[in-house]
Amino acid sequence: MGVGRLFNAFSNDIGVDLGTCNTLIYIKGRGIVINEPSVVAVERGTKKVVAVGEEARRMLWKTPGDIIAIRPLRDGVIADLETTEKMIRYFISKVLKRRWFVKPRMVIGVPSCITEVERRAVEESAYKAGAREVKVIEESLAAAIGANIPIFEPAGHMICDIGGGTSEISVISLGGMVVTNAIRLGGDEFDEAIMKHVRTVHNLIIGEGTAEDLKKKIGNASPEKKIDKMEIKGTDAITGLPRRLEIDSVEVREALQEPITAIVDEIKRTLGQTPPELAADIVERGIVMTGGGSLLKGLDILIANETGVPAFKAEDPLNCVALGSGMYFDHENGANRQARSLYNKL
Ligand SMILES: Nc1ncnc2c1ncn2[C@@H]1O[C@H](COP(=O)(O)OP(=O)(O)OP(=O)(O)O)[C@@H](O)[C@H]1O
Ligand SMILES: [Mg+2]
Repeated sequence: MGVGRLFNAFSNDIGVDLGTCNTLIYIKGRGIVINEPSVVAVERGTKKVVAVGEEARRMLWKTPGDIIAIRPLRDGVIADLETTEKMIRYFISKVLKRRWFVKPRMVIGVPSCITEVERRAVEESAYKAGAREVKVIEESLAAAIGANIPIFEPAGHMICDIGGGTSEISVISLGGMVVTNAIRLGGDEFDEAIMKHVRTVHNLIIGEGTAEDLKKKIGNASPEKKIDKMEIKGTDAITGLPRRLEIDSVEVREALQEPITAIVDEIKRTLGQTPPELAADIVERGIVMTGGGSLLKGLDILIANETGVPAFKAEDPLNCVALGSGMYFDHENGANRQARSLYNKL
């Protein structure tokens, strides 16, 4: 056994989901050890980091003048590379605080639309934080592994990951992405659509937190017999005074129509770009949905109705990317072994 192999036998692999909303870290054998918002609070002038994660999120909408809380990855692009690097190093160092027998290997799932420079910066940050080996992979690939899809199989699988800032729809076969389309639109736009609707129809200004609450509690994508209601509070756009309002699920569905249609159209477009043999596999196996946005009630039903292809949520949609990243090396090894044995038979 070579030194490398010996090393790997002892190391715990770490999977990181560097999401626009949440950052998750998974360690094989220990589970999800970090699950915090991708938020950093910095001093306005000096840009010195004062808080990261949950603590920083609490400052997001209520920061005092000299501190600003930012979401450095918002909209799926790295808006602020320096702050992003600091955030990555903070989370990873938190996990690596305890002494490791050998430095860990790390796989980081990132949105496929990030640039090569950003990708390298992410990789570099992980090395600086103490990783022995770093691999940056597309979050679709990670999500697929985390959703238990046998990605190295010679068959087509479609994965639709709806996150906070991005949605990625990919067709995977033999461990690679055959077709992939990413749009900068996800759960955040659902919240914004709700805010806009409440403002235009009811003259009420509500915060992002309230809109997200509405979405999670009574939000829905396909009509249901039962109509849910929820009371919200906001500021009257005309009088400037606080006011209450009752909203029902039919109205929330109307508000969400535009961003949801955009996602459905993207799925249809991706199906249209899929080679026929693989499309046949997808019709048989269905579209697997991951990411927090896939938890929107009835979205799976709507997608199935609109495309004619069955669609279902993965078991643990919010954790798939982190789990899949952590298991990436195992899958890759398995695939290499398979390929070797196939080669030996020839
Ligand atoms: N039960 C729910 N119903 C609807 N939406 C939900 C639910 N739970 C979480 N979300 C939404 O999921 C989104 C976050 O999902 P996720 O954590 O997968 O994003 P991310 O991985 O950080 O982002 P990205 O993949 O775009 O980088 C948020 O918009 C959140 O409001
Ligand atoms: Mg994600």
